[in-house]
Amino acid sequence: MPDEKTRIPIVAGNWKMFKTAGEAQAFAEKLLPQLGDLSGVEAVIAPPFTALDRLGRALGGSGVALAAQNVNAEAGGAHTGEISVEMLGELGCQYAIVGHSERRVMYGERSDGVAIKARQLQNAGICPIVCVGETLEEREAERTLEVVQSALTASLAEVKAGDGTEFVVAYEPVWAIGTGRTATPEIAQEVHAFIRATLRAQFGAVAESVRIQYGGSVKPDNIATLMAQPDIDGALVGGASLDPDSLAKLIHLAAEASKPGAS
Ligand code: PGA
Repeated sequence: MPDEKTRIPIVAGNWKMFKTAGEAQAFAEKLLPQLGDLSGVEAVIAPPFTALDRLGRALGGSGVALAAQNVNAEAGGAHTGEISVEMLGELGCQYAIVGHSERRVMYGERSDGVAIKARQLQNAGICPIVCVGETLEEREAERTLEVVQSALTASLAEVKAGDGTEFVVAYEPVWAIGTGRTATPEIAQEVHAFIRATLRAQFGAVAESVRIQYGGSVKPDNIATLMAQPDIDGALVGGASLDPDSLAKLIHLAAEASKPGAS
């Protein structure tokens, strides 16, 4: 394994069901002047579907990528209320989150369906951000690794991994999401290393190039210590991405953490 991390860190803001299209545009107008040079980091924002078009236009040419929070696995058809991969592609989405724990828990999503979504996204040239993570109950029952492994393997069952940049994994312990209770860097690293080993078993050496984000109460005051861990390649951020100053800080801190000698 290389001494320094060679993977470009990726910080993605997951806005969940927050911000109208107008609010998203105002956010971009405050965020972009704070960003400057984005070399060494990839910045992504996943607004609600209704704000994708407006935010995409506002971000145009800035280097900040647009992401969706979900997609339907079908190419089209009678699926009232759903959005297809093609619709996301037309709006310029480069990423889409799939299998977020809120979708798994509240909307009954399962890894086999996540796998199909991830494949369809890849076929359309959109990079899936595939989320996995254990509940508090599963952690307390010492089932974390088993739960993460089975969700990961099943959710990635249909993806391609040519050079490792075709998908991103997000490890998000459910007990840390929106609770203010972040996994310690050591706890997160243990699972991230395990995820990389699982990816190695599934895809071979290309696993070294796959980015694995941590998610769950990431904030400007804890991102640097998380990113200093050898297998943490960025963050998927909910609450702290809703404020432009906070997201700008997170992006800068992730870029700093990736500089040679930073960790
Ligand atoms: P949080 O959410 O940063 O508010 O904990 C993370 C996520 O759900 O992606």
